Amino acid sequence: MFVYANKIEALDGTNRMLMTDKQWAEAVRDRIRLKMAAQCDRVGSKVPYIAVDGHYGDKMADNLSWWTNGFWPGILWLMFRDTKDQKYSNTAIAVEERLDAALAAYAGLHHDVGFMWTLSARLDFKLTGNPRSRVRALHAANLLAGRYNPRGHFIRSWNGQYTGWIIVDCMMNLPLLYWAGEQSADPRYRFIAIEHADTALKHLVRNDGSCNHIAVLDPENGDLLETPAGQGYASGSSWTRGQAWALYGFALSARHTGEERYLAASKRIAHYFISALTPYGFVPPVDFRAPDEPEKIDTSAGVIASCGLLELAELAAENERKIYFDAALKILKATESKYCDWDPSRDSIVQKGTAQYHDKPEEFHVPLIYGDYFFIEAVYRLLDPELRVW
Ligand code: GLY
Repeated sequence: MFVYANKIEALDGTNRMLMTDKQWAEAVRDRIRLKMAAQCDRVGSKVPYIAVDGHYGDKMADNLSWWTNGFWPGILWLMFRDTKDQKYSNTAIAVEERLDAALAAYAGLHHDVGFMWTLSARLDFKLTGNPRSRVRALHAANLLAGRYNPRGHFIRSWNGQYTGWIIVDCMMNLPLLYWAGEQSADPRYRFIAIEHADTALKHLVRNDGSCNHIAVLDPENGDLLETPAGQGYASGSSWTRGQAWALYGFALSARHTGEERYLAASKRIAHYFISALTPYGFVPPVDFRAPDEPEKIDTSAGVIASCGLLELAELAAENERKIYFDAALKILKATESKYCDWDPSRDSIVQKGTAQYHDKPEEFHVPLIYGDYFFIEAVYRLLDPELRVW
């Protein structure tokens, strides 16, 4: 056990945080329980994406393969782990079975099979040992591994003409490969994940700890061609959700491989993120390098980063842990105090997420399912450092 806090007499039983912070986390956990109990009854096996007027629709009905389709089962499995209430596991299994249509269709799936099946089938297998779920998750891992470009040393992100495109979000898909390697006792999955992580480190993480969203590589040899803006403000800017994917993703690669360079990368990104975020009161703008006006917030970037910071707090040296833990807590508290809807009669918790800087006004300052997922993961992780999803 390690000590994060300074005031020994006020620590919680695990020596990780102050009693007052633990009480805060427990109170939020209780609100999550109330809200998700009602939401599970209402939403059932529909697959939420963006809540409109406190009401979720069914994203799978209009896009079978949409990258966020695993976050609702992910929430349901976290709730099942906490409460043991089978209404959560039954609903999660119903969504997992619906997702079989996406596996069968194949077209439309891309690198985000990692997000989709890590939080559905793989979490099911982890919590229940369901053998069918194991097969589904291995199937998804093989689809991901099949996107590897052996000359360019990267996993291609998207389909169609984007043969040489890598995006920073993919760091979160790699844990499915690490898991598949362990399950099948076959090191190839880990080799592919490491090759990709090294290419991402080279072309997506800048020296100052900020990140590109996208790198376009020559698919014949992996040479860097350009780094377009993607979902951030502009090329060379700093899309905060991309920063958060990188922060958490490299920390996860460090945990799965033990490689020091991934830990160093995650810390570099974290230090940049924390110092850039502080002036914003710990709720991120959509892009750290966009104009101050108009104000554009993305709460999802903050809560994803908080999960990465909690991971780093476990991996970093003893004398560094408090930096990461405290920053995670500040993000979660700021998000909770300003941007959470706790009314059980309305769907979604975390408000003011933004899918991308430009265009799509319907995806601007809205409740996003992944904002809720990572907020819930972070709160449970605060209360239970043994929680490992990825
Ligand atoms: N992975 C896509 C996004 O973060 O919007």
